[in-house]
Amino acid sequence: MAVDRTLDPAAIRADFPIMCRQVHGRRLVYLDSGATSHKPQSVIDAVTDYYERYNSNVHRGSYQLAVESTEALEAAREKVAGFIGAPRSSEVILTKNATEAINLVARTWGRANLKAGDPVVITELEHHANIVPWQMLAAEVGIDLRWIPIDNQGHLDLSDLDRLLDGARLLSVAAVSNVLGTINPVRELADAAHRVGALMLVDASQYTPHLPTDVVEMGADFVAFTGHKMCGPTGIGVLWAKSELLEAMPPFLGGGEMISNVTKEGFSTAEVPWKFEAGTPPIAEAVGLGAAVDYLTDLGMERVREHEVALTGYALRTLNQRYGSDITIHGPTEPAERGGVLSFEYKGIHPHDVAQVLDRSGVCVRAGHHCAKPLMRVLGCAATSRASMYVYNDESDVDALADALADADAFFI
Ligand code: ALA
Repeated sequence: MAVDRTLDPAAIRADFPIMCRQVHGRRLVYLDSGATSHKPQSVIDAVTDYYERYNSNVHRGSYQLAVESTEALEAAREKVAGFIGAPRSSEVILTKNATEAINLVARTWGRANLKAGDPVVITELEHHANIVPWQMLAAEVGIDLRWIPIDNQGHLDLSDLDRLLDGARLLSVAAVSNVLGTINPVRELADAAHRVGALMLVDASQYTPHLPTDVVEMGADFVAFTGHKMCGPTGIGVLWAKSELLEAMPPFLGGGEMISNVTKEGFSTAEVPWKFEAGTPPIAEAVGLGAAVDYLTDLGMERVREHEVALTGYALRTLNQRYGSDITIHGPTEPAERGGVLSFEYKGIHPHDVAQVLDRSGVCVRAGHHCAKPLMRVLGCAATSRASMYVYNDESDVDALADALADADAFFI
């Protein structure tokens, strides 16, 4: 689709109240949206409005406030469904975060359908959220966890895919690496999984905030993502799954909301999606996520992607030209093949020290293993510094990062 006009990050920053603040007397240069994004005023207002005007529990009350909160929760579900191209809003399960969404699949579909020796295939670039739930299932029922390797550019090495997928029941892959930025060929992988009768789970946590998402085009059976990386509140995530899978899956947590009837002898479950939403749901958070979806829809996800490709290209050029062999930026070299996440090592200085020096200039980056320890091992390092960009960042932020990096020399070289 043609993009009519580019994003204006300066105008966008005006929508985000936090952008007015200073850090250590310097303007805030926030380059950690891979960890969590900031929230526009419209999202903050939607959450406040919920608490100020119609705070009440959902699906229970017969009074006006409860009707309003229930309608707002379900309207948010509809908005999310529209945003990701879900055929039905009932396929959108509201969870606490992406981690819970993946655990939900492992604990319900996985426990019900997998037995000892069944292969589940993941990749070396996964976040712990898409590793540990499968390791837990391996410990519990003995599934055979297999790993797709990466090549030296940070792409998946698919040369041995047929062997890895042989007999597989599930392929579970991040759409975008939170460390390398690599955009994985999700559709190709889903088609390969389906050819051998396996299901496809996509961890879209670093994808949905940054690229137009269409769960049907992805060819996925399950898609997990989180709200707080896409301008929404913390405490809300999403599992999308095909209706027929959700209908067949046993419930996840037990309690209120998820039942149709309870007797001393047992219980029957509520309909999908509520069958998977035990207890009081994250109502204010869902309302906030609905507002975030509105905000991103107004910006236009094609334009968001175009902006990030241009800015990532600028960041790669700027840092490489200025620091040459003193900086190692992991992941694909082509901006079109990656998201706006740049993990780097600088002159052998420990990433935590780099992050601390950058902080003195108001530049926020994440340092550490980024919840991807197996990947760190493959890369041969214990940690990296990571700058990650979003709609409110522009070239001045990249310049500020490049300038602040020079200060690290004074401290540590
Ligand atoms: N998963 C988040 C990150 O990559 C927290 O930073």
